[in-house]
Amino acid sequence: MKVLIIGGGGREHAIAWKLRQSPRVDKVFVAPGNAGTALEPGIENVEITEIPELIEFAQKESIAITIVGPEAPLADGIVNAFQKVQLKIFGPTWQAAQLETSKIFAKEFMLRHKIPTARYVRFNDAVCAYRYIDEGSVPLVIKANGLASGKGVVVAETKEQAHSAVDAILVAKNLGKAGNEIIIEEFLQGTEVSFIVMTDGQHVLPLANSQDHKRLYDGDQGPNTGGMGAYSPTPFVSSELHEKIMQEIIYPAIDGMRQEGIQYRGFLYAGLMITPNGQPKVLEFNCRLGDPETQPIMLRLKGDFFSIIEHAVNETLDQALIEWDLRTALGIVVAAHGYPENPRKNDVVQGLTGLMLEQKSNHDFHIFHSGTAIRKKDNNEEIVTAGGRVLCVTSLGETIEIAQKNSYQLVNKIFFEGCQFRQDIGYQSIHRSS
Ligand code: AMP
Ligand code: GLY
Repeated sequence: MKVLIIGGGGREHAIAWKLRQSPRVDKVFVAPGNAGTALEPGIENVEITEIPELIEFAQKESIAITIVGPEAPLADGIVNAFQKVQLKIFGPTWQAAQLETSKIFAKEFMLRHKIPTARYVRFNDAVCAYRYIDEGSVPLVIKANGLASGKGVVVAETKEQAHSAVDAILVAKNLGKAGNEIIIEEFLQGTEVSFIVMTDGQHVLPLANSQDHKRLYDGDQGPNTGGMGAYSPTPFVSSELHEKIMQEIIYPAIDGMRQEGIQYRGFLYAGLMITPNGQPKVLEFNCRLGDPETQPIMLRLKGDFFSIIEHAVNETLDQALIEWDLRTALGIVVAAHGYPENPRKNDVVQGLTGLMLEQKSNHDFHIFHSGTAIRKKDNNEEIVTAGGRVLCVTSLGETIEIAQKNSYQLVNKIFFEGCQFRQDIGYQSIHRSS
């Protein structure tokens, strides 16, 4: 069978790599993919991004199932368009994806269904927002309503920072129409975890939990990024807390969407803050798998991922079996010079060839590519940077300490001009265990 993955990041590389291991999958296409997917055996990139052409390709190639990685095509209705012509695709419709594409939709939905989240107020007028900020206390969190590629959230420690965030989003319109409206949210303290499930609209299959590292620098300092590293599982979700998250957040969300006439089928990612008294609260919903969380999650997933997705598409997810490697997987993102503001392209990535050869027989690590491209030079090919996050170097280990050591050993063999990576991925879990 042939499958098609939409997207070109590390998440899509990891999904494609896992699906290619299924005995039922002969060929995986990735549209548009990256250098990593181009160089994997049994995986082929296709240079298409427009929905009508993707439909044409899926029909021509008799694609069994298409899986959507990023949020943008979901927001553009790729699932609605594929379903209209009876093509099988896994992901939410644009209506269901509003849980991610509109913070106000998500907040109002959570309020209606009593899903725990931070208190908030919405504004489309800057003067009213300033007044609200001046009358209250800080920290506060300012969020643009629409999709902003990770740039739409400002945690303001001072009232001046809160004013500047309102100015940038509502007045200067730095994020375009994504910032036509904002919410100002209560600041929540605690530990962040990523809780991702698959659902067919009725049944729910939780994936292994994980933790991301959103800030650029060690110790969670510096600007927010798309994620600088992740590991799975985390020690912060006990089986009791897992059950509480399912009962108080995941089921109410999926059942609530169904009650409102929207079937939610796809991955659902709840970004959670676990408050000091053990209460999980939703920071955000995403209508897709996380990046970089997917990379360690896929390294731990055992068995046939294609069959699980097939069950989800056929609405028999209750019959799917999922098994996890009990070891910890930890992925370190290596980002380009200038990331996240202004990532530089075309830096030559060195040190990959041997590792990419070794990982063909050693499944305890994998170098997942994100922003990479192949450049022809003389008679040779070289891998160059082509985006903000370049690689996610992911390894398994009996403990998180070992997984961390294994991944850093690999990262230290790779080099490109200006490369940036954090030295402390997994530190919260390591502190806790010591
Ligand atoms: P989001 O894009 O909504 O995940 O927000 C980006 C990051 O901002 C999150 O990963 C949190 O670290 C932080 N954040 C968002 N909302 C809140 C909140 N209400 N309280 C504290 N931190 C938050
Ligand atoms: N790692 C955060 C995200 O995928 O949104």
